[in-house]
Amino acid sequence: HPEIDEWMGRQFFPGFRAKTAEFCFENWSPKKGDVLVASFMKTGTHWVREIVRQLFYQHDKELVDVTKKIGFFFAYLESGLPCKFDVVDDLPFPRRIFGSHMPAELINVEKYVANGVKIIYVYRNPKDQLVSFFHFMQSMQFQDTQKWQQIFPSNWNKFYDSFTNGEQPIGLEKGQTYVDHILSWYKHYNNDSVLFVKYEDLKKDPHSMISRIANFAEVDVTKDDVTAIVENTSFKKMKENADKEETAAQSGEKMLTIFRNGKTGGWKDYFTVAQSEKMDRMFQKLDGTDIFFNYE
Ligand code: A3P
Repeated sequence: HPEIDEWMGRQFFPGFRAKTAEFCFENWSPKKGDVLVASFMKTGTHWVREIVRQLFYQHDKELVDVTKKIGFFFAYLESGLPCKFDVVDDLPFPRRIFGSHMPAELINVEKYVANGVKIIYVYRNPKDQLVSFFHFMQSMQFQDTQKWQQIFPSNWNKFYDSFTNGEQPIGLEKGQTYVDHILSWYKHYNNDSVLFVKYEDLKKDPHSMISRIANFAEVDVTKDDVTAIVENTSFKKMKENADKEETAAQSGEKMLTIFRNGKTGGWKDYFTVAQSEKMDRMFQKLDGTDIFFNYE
C-alpha cells in the first residue's frame, strides 16, 4: 500500500513523493521551451497536457507517438524517483510537457520563469472537481482497505466532509482545500509566463481557448491545425484512445478512471443544498479576484 509522504508541512497524495518534489525544487532546472501544466487533481490536467502535446507534435507523427509514452512517473514533477530527472533531461524532444498538482509554494516558480518555461494553470468549478475526485478514488486499487477508507471514504457524504475539512493528503496544509490551491497560483496570475485556463471555458469554446494556448506557448498554428486538435482532444476521442490502450496493454488490470464523463454540472446529482452552500462559502475567499465559476 502506498505510503503518504510529507514535506514542508504538507502530506502528498499516494504516488507523489516528497523527496522528488524537494529535489525538483532545489536541484533540477527546466529548460527554455518547456511547458508545465499545473493544476489541482481532476480539473482537466490530462486534457490540457494532450492539447499542448498536439500543438507541439501534431505534424511529427514519430514524436507524437514517443511523447505519448512518457508515463506518469516522468511527466509529473513530484512522482517517481529523483534520478528520473537524468532520464528526462536526455529525452530527445525539443519541447517537453510536465504536469504537477502541487501548490505554487512547492514549485520554484521564479526559476521556471527565469529559465523561459511557460506555466499553464488549469482550474475547474470545485463542485464538479469534487465529484470527479470522488469517483477517481473509487478506481484506486488500495481503496478497499480500512486505512484508506478513513481518508478517502466510499460514502459520498463522508468523502465530502473529509475533503472540505482539509483532512485529505493532497499536497496542502492541514485544513486547506482546493480554494487555497487556486490562491497559491493566483499570486502569479499577472505573470506573462503564466496562463490561467478554465475547464468550463475550454469546453464552451475549445477553438479560441486552444488558439490562446498556442499563442501563449509560441506555437504557430493554422485554423485547420486548431480544428484538428479540437477534434483529436474531444472527450470522446480521448476516452476511445485510452480504452484502446487499456485493451492493448492486456495486463488485466483496470487503469485509473480518468475519462469518466467530462461534463459540467454533474455535481447536482451528488451535492445536497447544504453541501453546495458550504462550498460556496469556502470559495468566497476568491472574492475580489478574477476567478469565478460556471456551475451549469
Ligand atoms: P470527470 O470525472 O468529471 O469526467 P484530470 O485530468 O485533472 O485528472 O481531470 C480529469 C477530469 O477531466 C475528468 O472529469 C475527465 O473526464 C475530464 N476530461 C478529461 N479529458 C477531457 C476532455 N477531452 N474533455 C472534457 N473533459 C475531459
